[in-house]
Amino acid sequence: MADVFIEDGVISEVGSDLQVAAGTRVIDATDRLVLPGGIDTHTHMELSFMGTTAVDDFHTGTKAAVAGGTTMIMDFVIPQKGCSLVEAYERWRITADPKVCCDYSLHMAVTWWDDTVKKEMETLVRDKGVNSFKMFMAYKDVFMLRDNELYAVFAQCKEIGAIAQVHAENGDLIAEGAKRMLSLGITGPEGHEMCRPEEVEAEATQRAITIAHAANCPLYVVHVMSKSAAKVVANARRNGRVVFGEPIAAGLGTDGTNYWHKDWTHAAGFVMGPPLRPDSSTPGYLMDLLANDDLSVTGTDNCTFSVCQKALGKDDFTKIPNGVNGVEDRMSVIWEKGVHSGKMDENRFVAVTSTNAAKIFNFYPRKGRIAKGSDADLVIWDPKATRVISAKTHHQAVDYNIFEGMLCHGLPVVTISRGKVVYENGQLFTKPGMGQYIPRKPFSEFVYKRINQREQVAKPCAVRREPYTGEIISIAPKR
Ligand code: URP
Ligand code: ZN
Ligand code: ZN
Ligand code: ZN
Repeated sequence: MADVFIEDGVISEVGSDLQVAAGTRVIDATDRLVLPGGIDTHTHMELSFMGTTAVDDFHTGTKAAVAGGTTMIMDFVIPQKGCSLVEAYERWRITADPKVCCDYSLHMAVTWWDDTVKKEMETLVRDKGVNSFKMFMAYKDVFMLRDNELYAVFAQCKEIGAIAQVHAENGDLIAEGAKRMLSLGITGPEGHEMCRPEEVEAEATQRAITIAHAANCPLYVVHVMSKSAAKVVANARRNGRVVFGEPIAAGLGTDGTNYWHKDWTHAAGFVMGPPLRPDSSTPGYLMDLLANDDLSVTGTDNCTFSVCQKALGKDDFTKIPNGVNGVEDRMSVIWEKGVHSGKMDENRFVAVTSTNAAKIFNFYPRKGRIAKGSDADLVIWDPKATRVISAKTHHQAVDYNIFEGMLCHGLPVVTISRGKVVYENGQLFTKPGMGQYIPRKPFSEFVYKRINQREQVAKPCAVRREPYTGEIISIAPKR
C-alpha cells in the first residue's frame, strides 16, 4: 500500500504517508487498486475500410477508452497500395491529434513493397517515432503481401530495429473458401467463419514465424483468434523464437457461435478477421495461454461499424465490413474472464493490459508502471463493483456491443491521464486534443537484446576445404 504523488502529469513520488502541500487534491483509493492505465495495442479509429468508415473516431474512441480505464491506444496507419507511408502517417497525425482524449502511438502497415517503401520505413523509424510495422497475409489484392515480400519487409524491420507484426491468415485460401461458400448458397455471417477455418490462421501464423526466423526478425502476431494459432505461437516461444501473441478482448470474451445466430443483425455484428471461433472453449483457452505467458499482451482491434454499415453485406458475407468493438470494455472483460475467474492474478493483469505492451513497443518505463518519473496514467480499479455491459450505456459511437449483457466484476472508478482526472464515477472530463502522440525508439531492449546477440554469435559460416580438382562433366547447352 502506498500513496502516489503526481506533479505536472508525472509521478513524482510513491511511498507511505507522503506529505503534500495544502490544497493538493487527494483521491482516496482505500479498498481499491491503483493500476497503470490500460494500453490498447490495437485499434482502428475512423478507418476507411471495405467501402465505409468506422464510426468510432479518435474522439469518441478515446473517450470510450478512458471510460474503460485505458489511457493509451496504439492505432494503425494503413496506406493504400502504391501510396507513400510517410504521407499516410502525416495524414493520420492530422486526423488524430486534434481529437484524441488520451495518449496514442501509431503502428504502420506495409501493404506493398519496393525500394521507396524500404526507405520510408527507415524515415518513419528515424524521424516519426514508429517502431512497428504490420503486414497482412490476408485481404488478397488489397493489402496482402506474398512470402518473398514478407521476407524483405522482415529483413528491413530487423535492420532498423522495428517489430514486424502480422495479420496471419492465408489470403489465397480465404478467397477460394469464400467463392465456395457463396456457390453453396451460404451468404450469411456463418460463411465468413467457414471460408477461413482455424487452420487457415494457424498455417499463416507458422509461415510468418518461419519467415521471421529466417530473417532473424522479432515477430508480433496481432489478433490471435484460435486455439490452433495460439498453440503455434506458444510452441514457437518454447522453441526459443522471439515472437509475441496478442489476443484481443473479443476473442477472450465471446466466441464465433454468434455467427450462427438466427438474427442476421446479431450475427453480422461479430464479423471480423480472423473470425471468432465456433469452438466455445476458445476464449478460456486463450485466457489460459495469456495467463501463462504463452501469449503476451492484449488489444481490441476496435474497428466499429454500426448495423446499417454491416448491412452492406446482407446478401453476401464477404461484403460485411470487418470489425468489432472492445476499446471501452477490454479491461473489464479481461478482469472478469481472467482475474475474477481465477486464471490470473492482479499482477499478471497489469502485465497483459499495459506493462508488456510498453516493454515490447519501447515506451517503458514512461508508461506501464507506477514509479517515480513515469507518466501519471493511472486507473483506480474497484474489484468488487459490478456492471453489465450494454450498448445502451457504453460511450462508443457504435450502435451495438458484442459483449451485450455480460456481467463484469471489477471496473474503473477513476481514470487519470497524464495527471488529469479524465473519468470519475461515470462522468467524463475529457477535451478533444488533450492526448499526445507518443513517439517510440527502435531496438526495444525487451525484444532486441536476444536478436542482436544471436546475430553476433549465430552467423552461418562456410566449411573450409581444399578445392575440388577432379573431373567435371560438361552439360550440353539447351537448344
Ligand atoms: O476485422 C478486422 N480485424 N478489421 C480491422 C482490420 C484488421 O485486419 O485488423
Ligand atoms: Zn488485422
Ligand atoms: Zn442479438
Ligand atoms: Zn486490426
